[in-house]
Amino acid sequence: MNASTEFTNATPVDSPLRKHVVTETTEMAAETTLLDPRFYTTDFDEMDRIDVTPVRAEWDRLIGQMKADPNRKHFKKNEAWDDIDWDGMEPELKKEMIDFLVSSLTAEFSGCVLYKEMKRRGSNPDICELFSYMSRDEARHAGFINDALREAGIGVNLGFLTKAKKYTYFKPKFIYYATYLSEKIGYARYITIYRHLEQNPDKMIHPIFKWFEQWCNDEFSHGEAFALLMRTDPKLTSGRNKLWIKFFLIAVYSVMCVRDHQRPAFHKALGIDIAEYDREVLRKTSEISKQVFPLTIDLDNPRWERGLTKLRAAFADMDTAKQRGGIGGFFGKIFAGARVGKNFAGLYLIPSKKNRVPESSHLVPAY
Ligand SMILES: [Fe+2]
Ligand SMILES: [Fe+2]
Repeated sequence: MNASTEFTNATPVDSPLRKHVVTETTEMAAETTLLDPRFYTTDFDEMDRIDVTPVRAEWDRLIGQMKADPNRKHFKKNEAWDDIDWDGMEPELKKEMIDFLVSSLTAEFSGCVLYKEMKRRGSNPDICELFSYMSRDEARHAGFINDALREAGIGVNLGFLTKAKKYTYFKPKFIYYATYLSEKIGYARYITIYRHLEQNPDKMIHPIFKWFEQWCNDEFSHGEAFALLMRTDPKLTSGRNKLWIKFFLIAVYSVMCVRDHQRPAFHKALGIDIAEYDREVLRKTSEISKQVFPLTIDLDNPRWERGLTKLRAAFADMDTAKQRGGIGGFFGKIFAGARVGKNFAGLYLIPSKKNRVPESSHLVPAY
């Protein structure tokens, strides 16, 4: 049975059909592939030993701002929240809109779980305070998206997700690189969509986008916090670690591009050209990342976009092989997987651009 096509908002709460769809969506969020938002765990004791003394003045300013909690009342529906006719929505768009919400929810909630765990395990007052504010924000973000999903008749069981999702262990320094970048790219994505819809209000396909402007300021501050954490120890952004930084830049950038291209109907409805949008988001993220990283990716090098296109094709073939199954699918997956690796290596080999990191990492959301 294809439940999602027969499921409507009028389906009774206790019906097996509704339960089936809810389970399916939770499974969708729990699935871990190379591309999906992951759940992380790390060496919390090492993180607890961070000494923020070298960045104390900027630290206190940022913490003061988070403590003031400017978005305290933001994540509530009000009269700007229009009703969405989920049942009348074109099925492909509905599927991709839900996929967008579920993957955003998983990313927000994954931050929430990681930050909360750090706060719970730590004893360093600076670190615990920071992570309590960040987990507070991410819990709000995840809850708000889950509310939106519930209106579509589905919702993700977050308690279940915490248990069911596989956790990837990352050393603290990898958490800094990956999380810093996801916070900043999250900011760049949300603000770019928001600004686009400001110019094109007729493309507002869902009210959640109206909340993105203030929302993305939270992500911006979270990124600021990780920039400061990295600045407490110059070793984190020098020497061999530069190779890791380059790796994470390419991984985060390319995964975003691959994922976005998997939602053509969603972007078409928003009036967004995916390639153009990705270019813009990467340009903003790359510019912001100069606050802390000693190198940037040469996004203007023609090899960059060519490589991304090939990488996308390899991922698409891997997906097709996975769906085909059987022996043909198995080998198809291996070949496509090898192409993913080869094209990723091709992107890695493009010379990066040196960046002289400024005296202070402090930035304000300016886009
Ligand atoms: Fe968030
Ligand atoms: Fe965040």
